[in-house]
Amino acid sequence: MRVEEREREQVRGGAAGGGQVRLSRAGVGDTLRVARILLLPTVAQGLVIRRRLVTLAGRWWQPDARAVRLMQRLRGRYGGGALRLRNPGRPLVLALSTDAVRTLLSDTEPYSPATVEKTAALSRFQPHGLLITPGALRAPRRAVNERALDADLPVHHLAAAITAKISEEIAPLREQMGGRLAWDRFATAYWRAVRRIVLGDAARDDDELLDLLSMLRRDANWAQLRPRQDGVRQRFQRRLNAHLARREPGSLASLLPPPEPVVDPYGQVPHWLFAYDAAAATVLRTLAMLAVHPAQRAWAAADLRPGESPHRLPRLRACVLETLRLWPTTPAILREGTRPTRWGGGLLPARTSFLVYAPFLHRDDQTLPYAHRFEPARWIDANGHDEWSTVSFSAGPGRCPGRNLVLLTTTAILAVLLRDREPRLLSGPSLSPDLPLPVNLDHFGLRLRLVP
Ligand code: HEM
Repeated sequence: MRVEEREREQVRGGAAGGGQVRLSRAGVGDTLRVARILLLPTVAQGLVIRRRLVTLAGRWWQPDARAVRLMQRLRGRYGGGALRLRNPGRPLVLALSTDAVRTLLSDTEPYSPATVEKTAALSRFQPHGLLITPGALRAPRRAVNERALDADLPVHHLAAAITAKISEEIAPLREQMGGRLAWDRFATAYWRAVRRIVLGDAARDDDELLDLLSMLRRDANWAQLRPRQDGVRQRFQRRLNAHLARREPGSLASLLPPPEPVVDPYGQVPHWLFAYDAAAATVLRTLAMLAVHPAQRAWAAADLRPGESPHRLPRLRACVLETLRLWPTTPAILREGTRPTRWGGGLLPARTSFLVYAPFLHRDDQTLPYAHRFEPARWIDANGHDEWSTVSFSAGPGRCPGRNLVLLTTTAILAVLLRDREPRLLSGPSLSPDLPLPVNLDHFGLRLRLVP
């Protein structure tokens, strides 16, 4: 049976999905260009943990800017919708327009977040994590995450405890080394705060826990290509279990239901620690933005006035959201068809991979006048963004349940650092409100100073 016939056969068994969204088929040349300009550089930068050298090279190489331009050319050539590449093996489809994004993200069936690639990578340290959970177990695991992270509340009910821990760990950075701030020094204080928030105060100094997690994440960057390090995984799990067993009051761990092997509430925590990494990068990038945008800095300073609620901070929140639009920390949102899907003008078999490439949506200067500018005020107005065109936290029922917690954590850190201080950017690249902001920004290389 030819491939097309087999696909039609599968679809007769029940197709769902793309509806009227147009599906085009890429030529061989365009498929090779996508592999060379988008896929390989995205994987090379590190999907599970950023590779420092590649991130540094990105400062000159600007791989994401090249990928965005390629996507724009493909949209011009194929007219939007979705684009099926001409690759061997499982079909791979790119979303070229927001109607394709809406189709893919508006339900987790038949477009599942638990793709083969993600499962191969993330199962090395979170085999029962929600993001790689298919089928019926997804709903109870999602519920456990939503409850512990207070996903539906703008402010987590533990906000007072969380901001107190942040203040204790982050405030000393204002004075040390004349207020100089660079990645390594910031990360040390940041992770102390995060371990206290997630696992409790007794985990504050457990650097080894995160060293082990980083080792597992470095292996996960290679998906199936590297052998599993079972010894490291066991050591990580033992240390983590010891912290979780305390269920320290005031920690996120204390909000999980008691352990049981099927839903595995404790098995969600490795993802939380992993995902908090992205928030650290975002804090430094936001500080860099505020350092070089005096007008926006003055606007955001309204949040720091005495008497403002220390937990809401709407303007700093907007600054973080705008930074995440400019530099989304999950550039590739993957989905996998759990059954055959019907698209306008084409059928796709089960197990097709779909890619939503966030930098294209966020930095599309052919449609967004503000694509390369820092304009946080747009986030104050509820109409300032559309759910399907800004996907820093994904969208729909697979949206990040940690979103509000991340915004609370990052804005609380910024508030501590910025009270009576002004950030100055000491390092390159040269950033200015008068220049388009680079599509790649190496957060490891940022150096700042907080000036009284
Ligand atoms: C800047 C920080 C963060 C960003 C930008 C972010 C973004 C995202 C994105 C884009 C997804 C969807 C991924 C996909 O579909 O492949 C996701 C999923 C998820 N995130 Fe976050 N995240 C952040 C931090 C956190 C934190 C700190 C937690 C927990 C404490 C968390 C918990 C989760 C969970 C549990 C999922 C899986 C959701 C599901 O599959 O239904 N995230 N996040």
